[in-house]
Order: sequence, then structure tokens, then C-alpha cells
Amino acid sequence: MLKTVDLSKRYENGVLAVKGLNLHVKGGEIFTMLGANGAGKTTTINLMFNFTEPTEGQVLVHDIDVNRDPLKAKRHMAYVSENVMLYGNFTALQNIDFFAKLGGRKDVTRDEYYEVLRRVGLPEECFRRRLKTFSKGMRQKCGIAIAIIKDADVILLDEPTSGLDPKSGREFLGLLHQLKEEGKAIFMTTHDIFRAKEIADRVGIMTQGSMVREIPREEIVGANLEEIYMEYIERYENNTSGN
Ligand SMILES: Nc1ncnc2c1ncn2[C@@H]1O[C@H](COP(=O)(O)OP(=O)(O)OP(=O)(O)O)[C@@H](O)[C@H]1O
Ligand SMILES: [Mg+2]
Repeated sequence: MLKTVDLSKRYENGVLAVKGLNLHVKGGEIFTMLGANGAGKTTTINLMFNFTEPTEGQVLVHDIDVNRDPLKAKRHMAYVSENVMLYGNFTALQNIDFFAKLGGRKDVTRDEYYEVLRRVGLPEECFRRRLKTFSKGMRQKCGIAIAIIKDADVILLDEPTSGLDPKSGREFLGLLHQLKEEGKAIFMTTHDIFRAKEIADRVGIMTQGSMVREIPREEIVGANLEEIYMEYIERYENNTSGN
């Protein structure tokens, strides 16, 4: 459903942030990308959502090239973050209404909006409050409400649980699990190895722009993910130190 093909990004300042990335996230799967600060995770997500152009390679969503046909591709996609996409002066209801319509859903009823906002765990008194008065976690919930209402097949999340309180973090991952069960393809980055282990069907480890290891669910279950992560990070950092 979501594919990257030999995807690379070199920024204008010469930094090669993503190098020849090939990955595939299927429907009904959560792919979690781990990696040190500066490894290239956010750049990867920015490429996936066409916030930035690839230097080489492609991102495909349902075989639509995200860079060549962004509007068509984005109908199938949602990007969840605390800030991007949301309008601070709009209420939660206005935001999800706006993005539902932008995503081609003109038929959504008021009841459906209420149901979705309840499902993501926003308290009812917040529905008509402006987004700029929301906390980070509340904004994330609003973002996932948009993904649900758009019925996006592909959901991208950059460190979705960072800064959430433990209960909200757990609830948020519960929601992602439900969406995966509904057949969505979910790609997320995180620094939380333990949560990754809990929720991921596949874990990738990224160092210096390359995915150096991809671990399937069968291996994740019995693995000491933290140890594997450290081993790879140290190995690749040592390989390039002094260069
Ligand atoms: N707009 C930009 N212009 C130039 N270089 C950039 C830009 N954005 C990121 N980089 C560089 O690209 C590399 C990858 O950065 P990126 O933000 O993708 O890492 P990350 O894995 O998301 O890190 P973190 O875990 O800290 O969020 C870093 O070396 C960073 O300095
Ligand atoms: Mg990042």
C-alpha cells in the first residue's frame, strides 16, 4: 500500500539525509522506524507526504507517485502531528469538517463527527474549542480523528507518543491498533523501543539515512529489541567515525 523505491534525499546544504530507502508497508500493518537523532526519520516522513521532494527515487501509495500526483495520492493518506495540517483558529469540529471535505468526503453527518471525536477520546466540551487552546495530546487526537474521517488507507506519524502522558500514550496506541485491524497501513517513527515492541508488525532501524535492519513480528516478540538497536547503532557509528 505504501512503498518507497530507492528513495534518497540530499538537502541543499549537501546533507544526504535518506539513502536508497526501500520499504513496503502493507494494509493491516504497523511499521515502526527507530533511529538516533538525525538518522533521517522525519525526512523520510516528509518525503512520504510530499512536504519535501526526493533527490532520487519514489514514494508510491496505491502505486500513485506521491511527488508526481500529490493531490491524488494524499486522498489516501493522513499525516498526524500536533501541528501540521491543523488550523489553530478553527474548532476541533471545524478542523475535521474542513479536512474531511478536502479529502473528498462531502457526505459526513454531524453525528459522525461527534462519534469520531468521541472515539479518539476528546472530551465533549472540547469539540467547539479552538485548536490553539488544545494541549499537544489533544491536537494529536484531533489529527487521528481526521485520519479516521478521511478514511485514509495510509497513516503517517512522526513520534506520535512523545510528550503524551502514559495513559494518553497507551490510548493513542490502542487507537492505532484498531486502525491497523481495519486494514490501514501505518508508518510511524519513535524513540520508544518498548512501545515499538508492543505495537509494531515490523521494526526498522535507521542510521545515517539507511535502514540497516528490518525486523519482522515473529522476531520482535522474543527479541531484546533494545539490545539489537544498540548493537546496530554502535556498529554503524563506529564504521563511519573518523570519516
Ligand atoms: N531542512 C533541512 N536542511 C538541511 N538539513 C536538514 C534539514 N532537515 C534535516 N536535515 C538534516 O538531515 C538529517 C536527518 O534529519 P531528520 O530530521 O530526518 O532526522 P530524525 O531521524 O528525524 O531525527 P530526530 O530523532 O532528532 O527527530 C540530519 O543530519 C539533519 O541535520
Ligand atoms: Mg525527527
